[in-house]
Amino acid sequence: MVALDGPAGTGKSTVAKRLAMALDARYLDTGSMYRAIAVAVLRAGVDPTDEVKVGEVADNAKLVVGTDPEKPGIVLDGDDVSVEIRGPEVTLAVSPVSAARHVRELLVAQQRAIIADAVDTVGGIVVEGRDIGTVVSPDAPLKVYLTASADARAARRTKQDNAAGRESTVDAVLADVRRRDTYDSSRAVSPLKAADDAVELDNTDLDLAGTVGALLDLVESRGLRV
Ligand code: DC
Repeated sequence: MVALDGPAGTGKSTVAKRLAMALDARYLDTGSMYRAIAVAVLRAGVDPTDEVKVGEVADNAKLVVGTDPEKPGIVLDGDDVSVEIRGPEVTLAVSPVSAARHVRELLVAQQRAIIADAVDTVGGIVVEGRDIGTVVSPDAPLKVYLTASADARAARRTKQDNAAGRESTVDAVLADVRRRDTYDSSRAVSPLKAADDAVELDNTDLDLAGTVGALLDLVESRGLRV
């Protein structure tokens, strides 16, 4: 199992998917799970900062998370929300939703079950998030903390948004990246930070292939590839 943590905009999701494909492993995007709960909260008309109500929504939400790196997908209460979870309203609401203790308890339990299943039956999984190496799987055989400068991350996010038909500017995205960095790193429950034994990889000057290559080298050097 590979735990891949780090802030938004490092290309982490694309990197994690490519790595999983190269290793013939499963793939778990834990951020998509927090985003799907944020969708449920918005649909219920609940204030995302109301921790008690958010917890209730999470208790009643049924998530089915795909782990195929070619087509991950996420279903909320029978409804495919793979596209909706990337919208700007959800991106705004997900910070407080993911800071709610009960939401984290529920999702971490679900993530551990998915990981245990994949490790037992398939032989490998790449899991990306913010707290995989610190909380979800502190025993992961390889933990990587992927980072890049805020400017580089904002530029990549903007390109990604525009390519997906969502209008955005580097300035607005940079402000959002900084807002989320601060929120994610300073929240009381499971703040974003590198695990003590994580390998830190700064990909400001690396492209996608270079980043995946560096990760494959790490996997190989640990003897994780079968
Ligand atoms: O990686 P992402 O942007 O899709 O993550 C969405 C939000 O969920 C982000 O604001 C941080 C949060 N998150 C988290 O708290 N813990 C995780 N393991 C994954 C994501």
